[in-house]
Amino acid sequence: MIKVNDNFQQLPAVYLFTKISRRLAQYREEKDVIPLIRMDIGDIPGPVPESVAQAMHKAIDDLASTETFRGYGPEQGYAFLRDVIAKKDYQERGIDIDTTEIFISDGAKCDLGNLGDILSKECKIAVMDPSYPAYIDDNVIDGREGKFENGKYTGITYLKCTFNKDFCPDLPQSPVDIIYICSPNNPTGSVLPKAELEKWVNYARENHSLIIFDSAYEAYIRTPGLPKSIYEIEGAKEVAIEIRSFSKTGGFTGIRCGYSVVPKELKGVFSDGEKVLINSLWSRRQTTKFNGASYVSQRGAEALYTEKGRTEIKEMIDKFLMNASLLRKMFEKAGWKVTGGIDSPYVWAGNPYGMTSVDVFETILKECGISTTPGSGFGEEGEGYIRLSGFNTLDNTQKAISRIEEWLKRV
Ligand code: MLT
Repeated sequence: MIKVNDNFQQLPAVYLFTKISRRLAQYREEKDVIPLIRMDIGDIPGPVPESVAQAMHKAIDDLASTETFRGYGPEQGYAFLRDVIAKKDYQERGIDIDTTEIFISDGAKCDLGNLGDILSKECKIAVMDPSYPAYIDDNVIDGREGKFENGKYTGITYLKCTFNKDFCPDLPQSPVDIIYICSPNNPTGSVLPKAELEKWVNYARENHSLIIFDSAYEAYIRTPGLPKSIYEIEGAKEVAIEIRSFSKTGGFTGIRCGYSVVPKELKGVFSDGEKVLINSLWSRRQTTKFNGASYVSQRGAEALYTEKGRTEIKEMIDKFLMNASLLRKMFEKAGWKVTGGIDSPYVWAGNPYGMTSVDVFETILKECGISTTPGSGFGEEGEGYIRLSGFNTLDNTQKAISRIEEWLKRV
């Protein structure tokens, strides 16, 4: 028999979104059900922006000709994409990040998991509760979780986030090595203001911790003054890796492309005391285990930075933000506790009836034909909440709203 990684025994049997899609497959098989509108996983309804489609067609043509063919690309990504990211996402916004600090990947989720390869198994991790479930699952697979007791892992520090504090977490009581921060937050939709991020950067500097800053939803921030990048905070380059994705900002959920920023100031230490640049370590990891995102997807991502691409993305995001704000207003009117829907594509809604998240999920599914994500799937503090996504057409969003409004009259 093959010996396998025992850590998998510590994981929930099924990943959150897999569980939901299985339940939805079952729903579709049932007789006389209301046609499903999906508001669970944050998937883009499509199509990809025209500029992206054109650039990808052109990239396929490049591959079809001997003169322009590309084989293995640089594992860190092509310079044409790394340069434009450094320039447009950072330097033009007054942030000093250069091309060698940008690593292109096949998506934020992969980078989040893969980063565990370069971090000690001894690291103590902290996650916001509620949070994107991959943060915990990745660390469980790597063996940083301790024991599973009373619904929580003893080796993980859960940073409680509550409605009354705008889902901003307090600093941990005892030191942690790695802190996952997601802003705009998945699932709560809340955005950490500058002062809150400063608090975390200062903490990380004092405690020699690493912040893994997931800013997959930064393009949804419209309120002036809210930070889009952790590097807007002084000193953050010494303590933070920033992870970004084109999934929600360019419609790339199926294409797969994202990037991580690993600043040269970030230093690590081996157990024998030898110091190392995290940037070099990550580069070493990527050159060994990754052959780069595909040429076609990187050309598509590059197109997002053209003037046409920028305009198209803005229009797409405006639509999703509009959907999210309509969902938010409906729940507010009905007296639910609501966050998100502003500067975020997600709406996080806590029911006032004392129902569990799973009960609300099942009821809205059966009575309205709408799939949501149960808040408890994101952590204990998510109990009682559901998450809805604005990634939809306006027509579907309006249909969903009228169905939920009808249901709300009956509860
Ligand atoms: C979500 O719905 O939380 C995200 O779409 C999942 C992901 O980005 O992997």
